[in-house]
Amino acid sequence: MKFEKKDILGIKELTVDEINLILETAESFLEISTREIKKVPTMRGKSVINLFYEASTRTRTSFEIAGKRLSADTINISASTSSVVKGETLIDTARNLEAMNPDVIVIRHSAAGAPHMLAKLLRQSIINAGDGAHEHPTQALLDMMTIKEKKGRIAGLKVAIVGDIMHSRVARSNIYGLSKMGAKVVLAGPATMLPRNIEQMGVVVHTNLEDAIIDADVVMMLRIQLERQNQSIFPSLREYSQHYCLNRTNIQLAKKDVIVMHPGPINRGVEISPDIADDPSCSVILDQVNNGVAVRMALLYLLTGGNE
Ligand code: CP
Repeated sequence: MKFEKKDILGIKELTVDEINLILETAESFLEISTREIKKVPTMRGKSVINLFYEASTRTRTSFEIAGKRLSADTINISASTSSVVKGETLIDTARNLEAMNPDVIVIRHSAAGAPHMLAKLLRQSIINAGDGAHEHPTQALLDMMTIKEKKGRIAGLKVAIVGDIMHSRVARSNIYGLSKMGAKVVLAGPATMLPRNIEQMGVVVHTNLEDAIIDADVVMMLRIQLERQNQSIFPSLREYSQHYCLNRTNIQLAKKDVIVMHPGPINRGVEISPDIADDPSCSVILDQVNNGVAVRMALLYLLTGGNE
């Protein structure tokens, strides 16, 4: 199958066939990262700009590593050390980057829709590395890859997503992706962290953690997005953790072979207890990070015509 998309803006826009192609391509790239010389010449002569207006450890580093493992030239731009601080607009910044003729621009921005605007404006492929509380498609793809790797399938699994759903682009992208791939998605969080009418996305909603994780195959815990909350929507972190922290006791409600996921960064002891986060018998958090490199390699490869 030829990959026809110019950009990766959200999981909402991807078909099941496209998701499967990305995951299969990523699976085939996993092995490159285990070689002594972790490099193939596939993207030699291509360049990738990582344009980050928000903080990132995992996404930015893995895009850079992904590009380098495919022999692309990778350039990182942080808004805080660029001419953005002198008042340059996103559009002017993008136009100037376009003039240098890169092949792919990866953008993270606090405004929902920023990558979509660039995709319309620029001839380069745009990858959304997280836009506000809207979507984080590459995170959902690496999450789906990890579930498939650990469980052998996605269809028919019960996946509980717990925490600050309202402000989570990870939750939104995973709801689109996991539902398309046939999983049963169940959400839980305080009522103030659940978007109104979220049931219309085809999910089951609970306001308590225990109800959501009963018999779950996968439990995905979310970080409280304090940077996106403009008012206090819960009394205190201590109170939040008393009700919504995944721990050794409540995890017993899930299936015996449950896997525990978290997109990172983790607030240890707030949404997940350290002994669960670090327990190799259930936590797949670092497998998610490892798969993130392969997924981003696959996207760079497919968008630059690698499988034509
Ligand atoms: N999961 C994720 O997006 O992590 P970073 O913010 O560190 O990129």
